[in-house]
Amino acid sequence: MMPTLLFLCLVIYACFSSCNASATKIKGMFVFGSSLVDNGNNNFLQNSAKADYLPYGVDFPYGPSGRFTNGKNVIDLLGEQLKLPFFIPPFADPSTKGSRIVHGVNFASGGSGILDDTGSIAGHVISLPQQIRNFKEVTLPELEAEMGNRSKKFLQSYLFVVGTGGNDYSFNYFLRKSNNTVSLEAFTANLITSLSRQLKKLYNLGGRKFVLMSVNPIGCSPMVKAVQPRRQGCVQVLNKAVELFNVHLKSLAVDIKPQMPASYLVYVNSYKIIRDIIKNPLSKGFKDEINACCEVASVNEGGNGILCQKQGRVCADRSAHVFFDGLHPTEAVNMQIATKAFASMRTTEVYPFNVQNLTEH
Ligand SMILES: *[C@@H]1O[C@H](CO)[C@@H](O)[C@H](O)[C@H]1NC(C)=O
Ligand SMILES: *[C@@H]1O[C@H](CO)[C@@H](O)[C@H](O)[C@H]1NC(C)=O
Ligand SMILES: *[C@@H]1O[C@H](CO)[C@@H](O)[C@H](O)[C@H]1NC(C)=O
Repeated sequence: MMPTLLFLCLVIYACFSSCNASATKIKGMFVFGSSLVDNGNNNFLQNSAKADYLPYGVDFPYGPSGRFTNGKNVIDLLGEQLKLPFFIPPFADPSTKGSRIVHGVNFASGGSGILDDTGSIAGHVISLPQQIRNFKEVTLPELEAEMGNRSKKFLQSYLFVVGTGGNDYSFNYFLRKSNNTVSLEAFTANLITSLSRQLKKLYNLGGRKFVLMSVNPIGCSPMVKAVQPRRQGCVQVLNKAVELFNVHLKSLAVDIKPQMPASYLVYVNSYKIIRDIIKNPLSKGFKDEINACCEVASVNEGGNGILCQKQGRVCADRSAHVFFDGLHPTEAVNMQIATKAFASMRTTEVYPFNVQNLTEH
């Protein structure tokens, strides 16, 4: 009798959680992109773009997980806004199957980009086109079996979040700049064309609700500033490049709609949200917008100026720092991006409407 009762209580409790969860009509998220949204895929790959050691995850409930920040990343926090019942599991984790995938899967890979050859200096990373093939060939058939429904219509209650592009500049275009024969404009146009092709693939597979994250102001990151004699201010040539990408991405969110009937796309201007914090940190609750919170291994120390030193020092006042390592924002910044993505009423931050509006369609 007692075990039965206990079981009943558990069922009722579970119902309570999922009754709350259905409040936004969104069942889950499929996530594609780079380290800003990777939640552990790179742990399972042969590469040097890893965040599976302290101090990464120092503020995460389960410790280091492969997330490139001290705590939750922007996807975790968006999931909380959507009241999803648990963190979206990483695709490369062998335990990501069965009932674990019904609220979505994260395919993102640190170091990767829109282009297949981006990030190859880090070793084996999964490019955006391959991430989408993984969704199509592995996850979607499993999900259809799990849902007992092959209509694909059920995918309209999932968000398809894409956060990528920065590495195509940092670890592709600018890396081989001296050899480049293509202009920045042509390179950017090619990125946008490739991205739009990938979005249409997701649409043809059944995706209807898309969240497109802008590329962050990489010219303001400690990685870049470390090689500049002047520590104040941002490196404009990098910021101008990603601004060009972002302008096109924002247009794409509207221009692609006629080719994807009954789709909804939101552009999240994380670039502006971070830039606003850096311009006026104190007013947003930040005290250090320049330095990495963790000890970053320089090239001389066997590092790359981006990732935290293994078991290295970490700042105490993490919520007052903008950057956790040489490139990635702290959880405190991720929180501002996720909150604004979900509910901001400013079209300069979310365009043409916010994620909450998206969930209502
Ligand atoms: C499959 O899902 C669609 C849309 O959610 C629904 O209309 C249909 O009844 C479902 N079919 C089955 C067999 O569950
Ligand atoms: C530029 O091209 C030369 C000759 O093909 C090659 O040796 C060199 O590694 C390239 N440099 C970069 C930064 O890609
Ligand atoms: C978004 O949602 C808000 C609040 O529900 C509403 O006032 C606004 O009109 C919506 N905007 C669009 C574009 O749907």
